[in-house]
Amino acid sequence: MKKKIKIAIDGPAASGKSTTARETARRLNYLYIDSGAMYRAVTLKALREGVPTDDEQAVAELAQQIRLEFRQDDDDTVLYMDGQDVSREIRSPRIVQHINPVAANPLVRQILVARQRELGREGGVVMDGRDITTVVFPDAELKIFMKASAEERARRRVAELTERGVKADFQQVLADIRQRDQADFSRAHGPLRQAPDAVVIDTTRLTIEEQVEQIYRLALQKIAALTD
Ligand code: C5P
Repeated sequence: MKKKIKIAIDGPAASGKSTTARETARRLNYLYIDSGAMYRAVTLKALREGVPTDDEQAVAELAQQIRLEFRQDDDDTVLYMDGQDVSREIRSPRIVQHINPVAANPLVRQILVARQRELGREGGVVMDGRDITTVVFPDAELKIFMKASAEERARRRVAELTERGVKADFQQVLADIRQRDQADFSRAHGPLRQAPDAVVIDTTRLTIEEQVEQIYRLALQKIAALTD
């Protein structure tokens, strides 16, 4: 029997994590879980229900009530919140503007970390985020820390937005990325940290295919080492 492992991937915003994680999961026939989408969904629910995002208790209650389900839909993973597909809505800039107090809320983190552990309980998952290698799955068989310079990440984000027909200013995008890094690294609970046993992949000069290939090969080695 081939053992199904857990692959944990962390890294800063726009480091190419989600595209790489999704494609690695597809190749291995594993489930891809985008943990950031869960923080985004809680933020969306708070905005919809008019709950101030800095009200720790009230937002924690929403996190407790929220029904979240990831479904694999052709090539994409779709997130259902309380039965509704919110995959597109959680990507809106409005969510990013309000998400920091939600991601910094220790009660929300506790609730979402428990759900993430449950989703990965049986292995066969690739999960990406900020605290997956350090808090959610410190026991993951494969841990990856993806990094790239802020300038390269801004360049990629601008290219992505331009492709979607959205006008973007490089300096503004770069400033946003630096701000998100600051929030991610300085958070008291679940900050972005490089786990000592994580494989560091600097993607500044790599294509997505090359990133996937590296992680896929590492995963196959781990699986082979664990399989009788
Ligand atoms: O990765 P993404 O940009 O979708 O993450 C959305 C927000 O959720 C970010 O502010 C990030 O800091 C936060 N997050 C988190 N812990 C995770 C994943 C994301 O705090 N495991």
